Amino acid sequence: MTRKILVTSALPYANGAIHLGHLVEYIQTDVWVRFQKMRGNECWYVCADDTHGTPIMLRAEKEGLKPEELIARVYGEHTRDFAGFHVEFDNYYSTHSDETRFYSEDIYGKLKAAGLIEVRSIEQFYDPVKQMFLPDRFIKGECPKCGAKDQYGDSCEVCGAAYAPTELKNPYSAVSGATPELRSSDHYFFKLSDAKCQAFLREWTQQGSHVPPEAANKLQEWIGQAGENKLTDWDISRDAPYFGFEIPGENGERNTGKYFYVWLDAPIGYMGSFRNLCGKKGMNFDDWWSKDSKAELYHFIGKDILYFHALFWPAELEHSGYRTPTGVLPHGFLTVDGAKMSKSRGTFITAESYLKEGLNPEWLRYYFAAKLNGTMEDIDLNLADFVGRVNSDLVGKYVNIASRCAGFLTKFFDGKLVFGSGRALPAGSVSTGELVASHFEARNYSQALREIMALADRINGEIAVAEPWKLAKDESKRAELHDVCSRALHGFYVLSILLRPVLPALTSRVARELFGMERDFAWADLGVLPTRVNAYQHLMQRIESKQVEALIMANKESLAPAPEAHSQQRHAEHQQAEAQAEKLAAAHISIDDFAKVDLRIARIANAEHVEGAAKLLKLTLDLGTETRTVFAGIKSAYDPATLVGRLTVMVANLAPRKMKFGLSEGMVLAASDPDGKTAGLFLLSPDSGAAPGMQVK
Ligand code: 2FM
Ligand code: ZN
Repeated sequence: MTRKILVTSALPYANGAIHLGHLVEYIQTDVWVRFQKMRGNECWYVCADDTHGTPIMLRAEKEGLKPEELIARVYGEHTRDFAGFHVEFDNYYSTHSDETRFYSEDIYGKLKAAGLIEVRSIEQFYDPVKQMFLPDRFIKGECPKCGAKDQYGDSCEVCGAAYAPTELKNPYSAVSGATPELRSSDHYFFKLSDAKCQAFLREWTQQGSHVPPEAANKLQEWIGQAGENKLTDWDISRDAPYFGFEIPGENGERNTGKYFYVWLDAPIGYMGSFRNLCGKKGMNFDDWWSKDSKAELYHFIGKDILYFHALFWPAELEHSGYRTPTGVLPHGFLTVDGAKMSKSRGTFITAESYLKEGLNPEWLRYYFAAKLNGTMEDIDLNLADFVGRVNSDLVGKYVNIASRCAGFLTKFFDGKLVFGSGRALPAGSVSTGELVASHFEARNYSQALREIMALADRINGEIAVAEPWKLAKDESKRAELHDVCSRALHGFYVLSILLRPVLPALTSRVARELFGMERDFAWADLGVLPTRVNAYQHLMQRIESKQVEALIMANKESLAPAPEAHSQQRHAEHQQAEAQAEKLAAAHISIDDFAKVDLRIARIANAEHVEGAAKLLKLTLDLGTETRTVFAGIKSAYDPATLVGRLTVMVANLAPRKMKFGLSEGMVLAASDPDGKTAGLFLLSPDSGAAPGMQVK
């Protein structure tokens, strides 16, 4: 019986590049979807960019774009990267769409009618300069636990403590540098603590295998025992200014100034994208999303968003009259060489850079698949193992079979395959296929690939014993040669069918170029013997370690630009290239780099000592249109009284820095010898005629 299956991957934020961490999920999902389609099931794979939120709004502003322009550009980048890795969505859409707005409002309205929305006033940090409420990530300050400076509003990167932004010491806004104020505002909450939700989730998470067992245990912890009531209500609104959908008022009017926060529009983007696909394909949305739908619905996600997808999302759907997911399938995070991906180490690898460096996307698909086992364990991209595994399995075992034997078939037998001795076993391949299929179905790709490679080992073993290259030299052994090579190529055909979910491009070439088919492989082809092959054409290159080294170099954040340095890095030894590029990077900056520094003439309107500061003077700088406070380490060289009224040069766009004595909003320029002590400090002054606010170029 064919199944009707709808599959999603988490929607990536539209404010950043796709990297290998993302690709674990998209490749995992794509393999599963391709497998389902090969089995003859009706399977649709939808996704979209998650386009709403404060970070996207602020990033667009910083780039001088409208949010719509930013998300359109990122859409182009994301779809390009996914296509580059053969991640084939049936629809890739955007949450900034009429369909998603429709379902957000619809679900919200139904939850409200069910008594599950509540308005409550909450206190939150507000940036008085930027005139907006600040998300936790945009508030910085000193860690309340260890005192580390410049920590985010939700957790400390130094000691790992988690806290509320209101607990930070000396908080400041990462947007404007201003000291945030606590202000209250009405927020809308989804009442996850409601008895209806608790009862439903207790049942849904523990019965019916909606999540894998380890995830069910985690959810049980979060929900607690009956009567414990551990689930808290979820804030689903944000105040203007915000880029998103405005929450409709009582009569549907759009003037509330409140916007749906991510969990009331991102997952609804799954529905929006599918609704859009229905329009294109003439399908009926309700067949898939109504409460009595017989279709299966699976969400592939990272373990970090399990809470939202396995608690919040099913509760939302259940209480707004839609079907709930058949399965929420979490995976672990990607590490590279055993550590968190890092920009400075060059292991925060973008999808774009991987393809630009000329690495084959199917190498990575194979490696990730070989590591994925359907659990929430993290998966490690060990770079040396990556090179070794791909070369040994794909080139050494799989491709090797065809490259050694196909040529004899075309040279001596006009490409025809014969199966005389009854030793070709389509029945055997069907049962191997069922075993492999059960592993793909369970998302245990690593076990599927182990079975497939064990079969490749057996075929290579037979070839090694029969030595077709020797048989080919002896005319009396033609029949034997024909038999051996036919069986080898049948084996290669079986392996290619089984590998198709993982290696769609390569196996498409095998089906079409080598076996002369006019379509790609289907699972049912396992029961059919191939009859002939065409001339063998080279199928896959080995990976060279230096390609991986070049990839790491290309992703080292500090070494990105200069193209000459880049091409040198490609060919030189890793260490050598790194040192060289660092030297080059240190020797020159581009005019664009220089233009990033906003140097201005400033008049020192006031200068004073700072109590308790050994080196600092507090300067009030007049920039013509505004004044700034700057703490400058020039106390040893100047009496404050002598500074008042004089002109100097300041860096006007330096990120504001919260110091012990207050916020420093820039920097003045002074000359000194390297240690800044021996010869003294000399504040820069412009020639006469310069005025406060003038740009220094
Ligand atoms: O966590 C994330 O990446 C968000 N962009 C949400 C993705 S999942 C979904 F529900 F859209
Ligand atoms: Zn800390």
